[in-house]
Amino acid sequence: MSTLVEARHLVKTYGEVSVLNDLSLKIERGDFLAITGPSGSGKSTLLHILGGLDHADSGDLFFEGEAYPSQSKAVDRFRNTHLGFVFQFHHLLPEFTALENICMPGWIGKHEDIEARALHWAEALGVAHRLNHLPSALSGGEQQRVAVARALVHGPKLLLADEPSGNLDRQRSSELFDILQDVRKHSDVAMVVVTHSEEWASKADRTLHLSDGAWRI
Ligand SMILES: Nc1ncnc2c1ncn2[C@@H]1O[C@H](COP(=O)(O)OP(=O)(O)OP(=O)(O)O)[C@@H](O)[C@H]1O
Ligand SMILES: [Mg+2]
Repeated sequence: MSTLVEARHLVKTYGEVSVLNDLSLKIERGDFLAITGPSGSGKSTLLHILGGLDHADSGDLFFEGEAYPSQSKAVDRFRNTHLGFVFQFHHLLPEFTALENICMPGWIGKHEDIEARALHWAEALGVAHRLNHLPSALSGGEQQRVAVARALVHGPKLLLADEPSGNLDRQRSSELFDILQDVRKHSDVAMVVVTHSEEWASKADRTLHLSDGAWRI
């Protein structure tokens, strides 16, 4: 494996609250890193920083050995090329079919071979037979699979996922992990996944635990 992302000495505070305190980590190509920790411990904050959606107060971030871009257009380009996101409340567009939903970010980003890649991921994730349906005609699990296919359609090297939290979503959360295991079988995209489930975290290659600004791997 070779290093895809390296974070060195990340610090993030909100007022008095220390969210990340001197956090360093490496994400290897094809890695599956789970992030756990109580509510408010900084899991989403870290995911946003790794995804170029937020900034640390200090520290350094590298992608394939180069510093993350800082200028906003370059950050957009970086995200649209290398990263995929499955975030909480990431809804599908209701008036478009599953296939159109999967293709949409690839079309907007003018990436090549989007339809072929969409079909590849739809098959890999078991929703190829549902592609002509609107999201409202799909089960929750199928919608989630479509959202993951959409996050992968442009061929990102790193997938960032913030699982639905709360007890009501336990089934959805374990389904998301099944889906991500399917992704692993079909590509070497690295994955960083926030999870409330210790059981599911145990299936990851490594687990990063956050608590009160402190962290351990
Ligand atoms: N924009 C902001 N302004 C001020 N405080 C913030 C902001 N965003 C997050 N925080 C605070 O930073 C801490 C970490 O938030 P974060 O959303 O990263 O937690 P989390 O681990 O993802 O929690 P959850 O499991 O509930 O999703 C919390 O105390 C939160 O209130
Ligand atoms: Mg969160």
